Amino acid sequence: MRVLITGGAGFIGSHVADRALERGYEVAVLDNLASGRQENVPDKATFYEVDVCDVDSLNAAFADFRPTHVNHQAAQASVAVSVRNPLMDASVNILGSLNVLTASVAHQVERIVFASTGGAIYGEVPESTRADTDTVPVPISPYACSKFAVEKYLECFRIEHGLTYNVLRYANVYGPRQDPHGEAGVVAIFCNRIMAGKGIQLNAMCISGDDGCIRDYVYVKDVVEANIASMENRIPDPVLNIGTGTETTTRQLACSLQEHLGKSVNVTPSGHRAGDIQRSVLNGDRLTELLGKSVPLDQGLGETANWFKQRST
Ligand SMILES: NC(=O)c1ccc[n+]([C@@H]2O[C@H](COP(=O)([O-])OP(=O)(O)OC[C@H]3O[C@@H](n4cnc5c(N)ncnc54)[C@H](O)[C@@H]3O)[C@@H](O)[C@H]2O)c1
Repeated sequence: MRVLITGGAGFIGSHVADRALERGYEVAVLDNLASGRQENVPDKATFYEVDVCDVDSLNAAFADFRPTHVNHQAAQASVAVSVRNPLMDASVNILGSLNVLTASVAHQVERIVFASTGGAIYGEVPESTRADTDTVPVPISPYACSKFAVEKYLECFRIEHGLTYNVLRYANVYGPRQDPHGEAGVVAIFCNRIMAGKGIQLNAMCISGDDGCIRDYVYVKDVVEANIASMENRIPDPVLNIGTGTETTTRQLACSLQEHLGKSVNVTPSGHRAGDIQRSVLNGDRLTELLGKSVPLDQGLGETANWFKQRST
């Protein structure tokens, strides 16, 4: 298998690249390093520093590497940025993705995996329910709209061109290598601040002082295994939720990370952040059925905390 991983210099894509190499695939990473880092690209992978919006360079990379599979992780990945700059979000996440889909057809790629969002696509998930793939998406941010649009384009490309695909709708992914300096990735942000002895801010779910938004946190190893299973054609469902079904408040997360890191810091209550969904939890039963139990949150947070600890020494 020859897999081209777009966004492979980023958090999730670089873990996919590592695991794909372990499985014996030939791997190429295509990334413009907008948020990714060249040091994340494994030595054994071919690296193309290319923007998915640059059609000529994209096609040249496809022609050079001749991928059998495409793993499309590259994106503007922040909801907050998409709210501030929806045009930029759409140009990378919709038009850039269309370039990747078009190149995949032109270069006879067998299968494409698309990193979508379960955390944003369903909108508010009512209390005591979990969003399933047959829940009607309610995208309420430009980011969620752009991901949903690409899911729909994939359907069109399957019908028109026979391009086979899986859409993986990730919950809130966390783990080593996540960027602690962005506006998303609360686990990485908290780890970094706690290690530095800096206080952390608890954005409210509704009013300042509450336990914060409810999220479904999924460890990057589980996300990687889902990507590998998809590339190996072991996921029959066109769309799959990549989540655990477990709900966690930001306060629970903050407490757990302080314990794992062995440090306590000031936790300052803050108001509700514009654009934040209050509750997002996915039904991950189908993922468990296909790939087994996911990594328990406490274990994943422990491994992530250790990685941040080692990095800071
Ligand atoms: N991290 C999460 O919790 C989460 C949740 C749902 C979906 N996703 C999706 O998973 C994918 C990977 O996210 P991540 O958390 O690893 O983010 P990331 O920012 O670490 O990775 C994205 C990568 O895409 C690259 N990129 C951005 N614009 C590009 C462009 N125009 N051309 C080429 N490369 C470009 C970046 O440099 C980066 O390496 C994204 O599609 C994201 O939307 C992530």
